Amino acid sequence: MKYKSQQVAYWFFALSVILLVLQIAYGFVMAFAHLGYDGLHEIIPFNAASATHKNLLVVWILSGFMGAAYYIIPDEAERELISIPLVKLQFWSLAIVGVVAVIGFHLGWWEGRKFLEIPRPLDYLVVINVLLFLYIILMTLFTGKKRTTTSLVLSMGLFFAALLYLPGMIWFDNQTMDSFFRWWVVHLWVEGVWELIMGGILAYLLIKLTGVDRELIEKWLYVIVGLTFLSGVLGTGHHYYYIGTPKYWLMIGGIFSAMEPLAFLGMALFAIAMYRKGEKRHPNKLALTWTLGTAILSFVGAGLLGVAHTLPAVNLWTHGTFVTAMHGHLAFWGAYGMLVLGMITYAMPLITGRKMYTKPGANYAFWLSNIGMIGMTTAFAVAGVTQVYLERKVGMDFVDVQLAMEVHFLILIGAASIFTLGIVLYIINFFKYGSPSNEALVTA
Ligand code: HEM
Ligand code: HEM
Ligand SMILES: [Fe+2]
Repeated sequence: MKYKSQQVAYWFFALSVILLVLQIAYGFVMAFAHLGYDGLHEIIPFNAASATHKNLLVVWILSGFMGAAYYIIPDEAERELISIPLVKLQFWSLAIVGVVAVIGFHLGWWEGRKFLEIPRPLDYLVVINVLLFLYIILMTLFTGKKRTTTSLVLSMGLFFAALLYLPGMIWFDNQTMDSFFRWWVVHLWVEGVWELIMGGILAYLLIKLTGVDRELIEKWLYVIVGLTFLSGVLGTGHHYYYIGTPKYWLMIGGIFSAMEPLAFLGMALFAIAMYRKGEKRHPNKLALTWTLGTAILSFVGAGLLGVAHTLPAVNLWTHGTFVTAMHGHLAFWGAYGMLVLGMITYAMPLITGRKMYTKPGANYAFWLSNIGMIGMTTAFAVAGVTQVYLERKVGMDFVDVQLAMEVHFLILIGAASIFTLGIVLYIINFFKYGSPSNEALVTA
């Protein structure tokens, strides 16, 4: 680590892993409720658990992205961050908004729009927080010595992610209009601008971990950016089937979203090619494992399991079932969860000067979490297909189908326990690193 201010990444990473644990806790509350054990209902109703689970997910990923940006941008731009007190302010305001939102959900203070549940007054605070974050990042980048393609793609992704939060704040009385613009946030984030953030972080990690020339890695970044926009923008149409939008969306959504896996396939193939080409083997092999893991599992979870229900003829049946949860879990985990945990695995030894990645626990964390998540995805998939068949083909009553599916939630809880064990090992390892150390500065 070259610049002292990169140490601030630690706080965002710590917040990220703590929120991940909380997110998991709410996942279990819902899984038990689906199994018929909803004893916590009075304190945590299902809708509060669901909103908390999903919003904590978004915030731990965003906190991970922010930590990554605070670590990467000084290194790429070759200067310290412009102001540490401003970063601290941004960090604490983020944490406080998060806590208020979670408490609010439990008190019934929410908007009920999936993924955008936080109420409007808090939205304005989020906007101020993100503007402060962008100011620090962009000022550091543009007053620095260098502006690399990697840092520009990462910053562009962060900038557009902020901009795209706004369509979700427009008020509509009409359900179709509200849904239409809600997808500008949710879809254009995960299948658009977050992919740029992913491309930027992946490029940075591959440059550092494989030793392959920056020029080569950055050329591929252009291909990823191109493929993402070509397919992802009009791919939004896969959320516009049968919701009251004009019929042409069936065709547009079907064609363009079916092309979306190409961007993820591109990332996976490229990461593997760079791994094979790389001559300088970085000692932190575990960070490379996470990096390759995210490149490959994002293709499986987002690309393959996304395309599995993206055609209008399939989505007509699967919409709003556990088929969506199957895809949602592996896509978010593979693309963004693993990316953040990979970045943390790379950065922590350099921030603290300790090499905890050699510990067996760190290695088991990778395998157990991934095996567990693949098991969870499978459980959701089987539940989802059962649900589609019984409810929509056979015509069984909704509640009877929920009862018929209970057994799948037993399997889900088993797999989720393996996943959780992996995450617990990861977090023990994280906190064993201790806090940032100035001695680490010399080891660059
Ligand atoms: C990393 C990238 C991705 C993530 C994190 C992700 C995550 C999600 C999530 C959470 C949902 C549920 C959204 C909601 O109901 O509010 C969803 C829905 C969906 N995703 Fe993805 N996704 C990704 C990429 C893709 C790709 C590449 C495709 C297509 C090839 C795809 C196809 C779909 C479809 C068709 C739905 C709608 C399901 C329905 O409601 O009927 N996704 N995705
Ligand atoms: C290990 C513990 C976890 C358990 C037991 C769990 C369980 C669940 C359950 C039961 C739902 C609600 C499904 C419904 O009834 O609508 C859900 C939703 C969701 N969870 Fe998890 N989850 C866990 C971890 C995670 C992780 C680590 C991620 C992301 C990396 C994640 C992402 C999501 C998403 C995106 C949704 C919304 C899915 C949809 O749109 O249908 N979960 N989870
Ligand atoms: Fe989408």
